[in-house]
Amino acid sequence: MHKNPIGVFDSGVGGLSVLREIRKLLPEEDLLYVADSAHAPYGDKSKEFILERSATIVDFFVSQNVKAIVVACNTATGAAVKELRPKYELPMIAMEPAVKPASERSQTGIIGVLATSRTIDSNNFQILFARFADKVKILPQACPGLVEQVERGNLNGDKIRTLIAQYIQPLLAQNVDVIVLGCTHYPFLAPIIQELAGSSVTVIDSGSAIARELKSRLEKTTLLANRPYPGAVQFWSSDETGTAKRVISQLWDAEIDVSNLPERIS
Ligand code: SIN
Repeated sequence: MHKNPIGVFDSGVGGLSVLREIRKLLPEEDLLYVADSAHAPYGDKSKEFILERSATIVDFFVSQNVKAIVVACNTATGAAVKELRPKYELPMIAMEPAVKPASERSQTGIIGVLATSRTIDSNNFQILFARFADKVKILPQACPGLVEQVERGNLNGDKIRTLIAQYIQPLLAQNVDVIVLGCTHYPFLAPIIQELAGSSVTVIDSGSAIARELKSRLEKTTLLANRPYPGAVQFWSSDETGTAKRVISQLWDAEIDVSNLPERIS
């Protein structure tokens, strides 16, 4: 079992920001990545739809004999993980916006969280807010349009800069000194977010914390691959137009072979 792969999925290409941290920390593991790009963004879909897509992808991973699953999507975490966890015996690691490190780092005591509206409205998020309410003031900011831009590989340019400026200006005006990226697509926009926010603002995401959490779960269950050579990484997407392949190669910084998901689950 310890030699089996780890399944990582997202509504699209955003989860690659988590996958790269996992690859860095656990290079010997075999990794399977599913980008559900034909259905991205999840942020504007119903909870039922996201749950159905997430369950379908998890079943696909089970058919590939994975030993653990990483839900590398904040929106799917909020909409589906509570329902999915009891149904599978596998370790299932899910996203949590980096509010804890942000609250420790903030000098002003005011932090901003960029996420999809569905994530912000989720129970998980409300519970997270309540947990830190006495330590820090949290300002959530929904960011419609950003996921779509990353899905197209647009990581710079006037349109993306205008959108980001529009979302972070109200936060900066309220003295935010830490911005949490609460969607796995946003780390690909971190250089522009940082530039527009200025050097007095810290921008953080949870990719490396999720990789550490995965490692610790695999250690506890004696499932670490522990081999002296690098594992393989395989990619699938529900998008058959070629866009996902192009953008995955762009974001992974290599020419990637992306397989189509089997028809029954596309
Ligand atoms: C989305 O698909 O709308 C965003 C993915 C995420 O929340 O990480």
